[in-house]
Formats: sequence, structure tokens, C-alpha cells
Amino acid sequence: MISLRTFGLYVLLACPVLVSSHPYESHLPPATPGIFKAEAYAVIDAPIDKVWEVLLDFPSYPKWNPFARKMVITNMMGTPLEDQTPRENARLRIEAQIPPMKRPVNENQRSGLLSSQTSMENVTLIDHENYICAWQAIQLPPPLLAATRYSALSVVQTPDGPRTLYESREIFGSVISIVLALLMAGNVQKGFEEQALALKELLESS
Ligand SMILES: *[C@@H]1O[C@H](CO)[C@@H](O)[C@H](O)[C@H]1NC(C)=O
Repeated sequence: MISLRTFGLYVLLACPVLVSSHPYESHLPPATPGIFKAEAYAVIDAPIDKVWEVLLDFPSYPKWNPFARKMVITNMMGTPLEDQTPRENARLRIEAQIPPMKRPVNENQRSGLLSSQTSMENVTLIDHENYICAWQAIQLPPPLLAATRYSALSVVQTPDGPRTLYESREIFGSVISIVLALLMAGNVQKGFEEQALALKELLESS
């Protein structure tokens, strides 16, 4: 009998190309092994502090984000907090659209019921000095979805001058990932890509 992990690897190999790459040095922490990953980047013509501000402005996500439609900081019971400033060890309820909605989106657009996925996460890292943040799906026993999403910003030199590189990656490493991989790896990847494009569009149009 093959192990679940081996099976997951077969699934990964059978999936369409899930990895996007760029010519710059990555500012994300090294990838850990997993069953599948979603990854996207954008080179943005805006100052790094401006991009960082938008990335951490969760209440504004419905105005622009076709994938993570809502990100709400809550207390342990899931009740939204008045102060929505992201901080480590805060609970974060994410309502994602998988597949993502068509760009551009605004706050009035209703999410598709069938494509809505809600997850409770823990904010594991908000590093203002290095422009890296991360949140991780809360583990239920047994671990269902061992997944941490990292986002990082860095300044890169392009032929057109300095730009902000936005990179985001999530590695799915648990048993349910196999099911996820079969069902929607491509759509999660699409979500990451659409979010990166929407972020770029938002910042370059303002
Ligand atoms: C949430 O993240 C913080 C910061 O990384 C960590 O100290 C804490 O143990 C985490 N809590 C849970 C429930 O995972």
C-alpha cells in the first residue's frame, strides 16, 4: 500500500504547473515540504510602506481582493474586534472565494455561496521591520489543514528602477490537503495569482 504522502506526491505531479517564479531573490522563508503549494508574486510600482499598509488593512479587503474577500480579526469566540490592527496571536476569520471572483471587485459584490470557504486562522507573524506576515489555519485534532500563508515584501531593482516585490505562498501539508489538491489546487493557485494582480492594480492606479 502506498502512503498518503506518496499518494499526495503523485497528485502534485499530476496537477498542472502550480509554481510561479521570478528572477529576484525571494524574501519568503524557505519552503517546507508539503503536499501542494500555492504561490504568486507581483512587481509593484509603489513604495514598500504603501504596499505593506494595504496588505495589513484587512477591513479594506472587500474593496479590492477577489480571493480573500473578508479578513476579520476576532476574539477567541469568533466575535469581530473593534481594533482590526493585525497582531501576532490574534484570531483571523478568512472568507475566501475558491475559485476567485473576476477582477476588478468592489465591496458591494456578493460572494458566490458555493465558492465561499471560511477558515479560522492564527496570526503567527507580523514583522514590520522585515515586511513579512503569516497566518496559519487553526489546528483541530486531528490536524486537518496544516497550512501557513506567508506574505513578504522587498525592494527589487528592475530595468525601470526600484519596485516593490510582493510574494505570497501557502504550503498545504496535511491529510486533507490530498483531497484539497484533487479538488481545488488549481483554483487556490488562481486565487493567489488574482490577489497579486489585484494588489498591483490597486496600488498602481492610486
Ligand atoms: C498563534 O501564533 C502565536 C505567534 O506565533 C503563537 O505564539 C501561538 O502559540 C499561536 N497560537 C495557536 C493557537 O496556534
